[in-house]
Amino acid sequence: MKAILIANPKGGSGKTTLSTNIAGYLASRGQRVAILDLDRQKSATQWLANRLRNLPAIELMQSDVEKDAPLDTLVIDSPAGLHGKNLEHALKLVHRVIVPIAPSAFDIQASRDFLEVLHHEKMVRKGKIFIGVVGMRMDPRTRAALTLEQFLKGLDLPVLAYLREAQAYVNAAFEGKTLFDLPPSLAQRELEQWAYLLNWLEKSE
Ligand SMILES: Nc1ncnc2c1ncn2[C@@H]1O[C@H](COP(=O)(O)OP(=O)(O)OP(=O)(O)O)[C@@H](O)[C@H]1O
Ligand SMILES: [Mg+2]
Repeated sequence: MKAILIANPKGGSGKTTLSTNIAGYLASRGQRVAILDLDRQKSATQWLANRLRNLPAIELMQSDVEKDAPLDTLVIDSPAGLHGKNLEHALKLVHRVIVPIAPSAFDIQASRDFLEVLHHEKMVRKGKIFIGVVGMRMDPRTRAALTLEQFLKGLDLPVLAYLREAQAYVNAAFEGKTLFDLPPSLAQRELEQWAYLLNWLEKSE
């Protein structure tokens, strides 16, 4: 089973949006997928409760005790403020970490610090965990988006996607849906931005 941690200790960076959409994509490809929701706010859990049964199934893993369940992929959504022992515990479950970063000075600063922490983790140093970053809520007309793009390009890490600020994400979430459950005409522009990230997800370990 593949397991991916979506993490950034900065609140509101886009972790749950990314987690749910990644799970939705993999489910739409026929994979057996579960979400492990480590956040006490339980946003991903509530989102899943709204998901209709006629959509590609995504399971909810109640705790990592079930980590040997027969799944293709486990997507772990994590809370704001993840650090220390909780971060180390989450890292033990995965081989990949995706860090979504929102465009603001505060988000960039907090993410820089987090990436530095990740960089010093044993599993990362040993090359056993791969890290990718995603620019979230990008509005190319803004200085903030440009600054984030420059920051991401300067990292020695794969930039998996730049995802536009778009109501398609917000609206889909109300119904337990993802971009991958929408009629293509409603999500075309957004889906184009996912190509590299989806490729990275499908690559074998
Ligand atoms: N690409 C996007 N376009 C528009 N809105 C977005 C996009 N990505 C995220 N959002 C919105 O930004 C807000 C924060 O996103 P999200 O809840 O995914 O972040 P989070 O990191 O999980 O937050 P928390 O730290 O509280 O768990 C939400 O209202 C979400 O709908
Ligand atoms: Mg969240």
